[in-house]
Amino acid sequence: MIVGNFVNNLRNADIIKNIKKQRLSEVCALGTGGEAEIFIEPDTPEEFQEILVAAQGNRVYILGGGSNVVFPDGLVEGVVLSTRALKKIRWLEDSRVEVQAGYSLPKLFREVREHDLGGLEFAVGIPGTVGGAICGNAGAAGFGICDLLEEVTTIESDGNLRIWRKNDFAYSYRYCELANDARIIISCVMRFREKSPDDDSMIKNFADKRRNQPLEFRSAGCTFKNPESQSDKSAGKLLDECGCKGLGIGGAVVSGKHANFILNVAGASSADVFQLVRICRERVLSETGISLEPEIKFVGFDDAP
Ligand code: EPU
Repeated sequence: MIVGNFVNNLRNADIIKNIKKQRLSEVCALGTGGEAEIFIEPDTPEEFQEILVAAQGNRVYILGGGSNVVFPDGLVEGVVLSTRALKKIRWLEDSRVEVQAGYSLPKLFREVREHDLGGLEFAVGIPGTVGGAICGNAGAAGFGICDLLEEVTTIESDGNLRIWRKNDFAYSYRYCELANDARIIISCVMRFREKSPDDDSMIKNFADKRRNQPLEFRSAGCTFKNPESQSDKSAGKLLDECGCKGLGIGGAVVSGKHANFILNVAGASSADVFQLVRICRERVLSETGISLEPEIKFVGFDDAP
């Protein structure tokens, strides 16, 4: 249960009015997870600051588009804060945009095209919010969203705002140093480039690759990161070669189309998914010696799969 006087610590009546319980399966792409005890979708950075201070001593979870996360089944104690209502966008000079964390990445993709700019081609078909994409440095084929960042504004664990310039934080393949339970990404400034004649064919290539993915089912995207240094094979290929396609636990199954996708085909639970990820990981480890690292984020679990 929530610790201390969280609600009494809040001053802003709008925040209190909007506190609710929330089935997490409804806000996570995979469609699993129990109920959040306290779920809030603040629409200003100031509200996030007030909530963080009021929630001291409690577990706080930050949720973006829910594209990549799995919460436990049952009651999720603490505060789940969604960034989805932070969706302001402002186009600046010099091919730059200032955009809040909850803005939809697919929408940003379209707007960049409408502004005759380029640089976000790799994001075609990637779901979720801008903030979530930054946390996982979402991307494809060597491109990642963090390459486009000029600055990022966060709220730190003490409730203060901080502006990070591009060189203040590290990022690499599917990793961004700013992704940390103790801070919230609020907004960023991205710089794009002028549109190039090759952009359309790049988008087509990225979109074609996605046709190998089982997007007709609920999933959390790729289950594992590609093992960069240990193998030149992708996680999907390794899982496929180790016979993982079609493995299932409860309502969760490894796609027969692309082995790096776990699908929720029949009311899967988060426990089903957790167990299936563990089985796949153990199988690849015992057959190849390669330890795959999950890309799906298991949030609020005591253990890693
Ligand atoms: N492959 C198999 N069997 C499979 C799946 C793949 O043999 O079951 C082979 C493919 O034939 C290909 C190779 O593995 O030769 C790589 O597969 P694919 O081109 O699908 O790329 P990927 O490495 O599996 C990456 C990203 C995707 C992104 C695609 C397309 C990671 C972990 N995955 O997948 O990102 O959409 O490239 O650009 O980096 C995500 O992060 O959630 C995600 C879906």
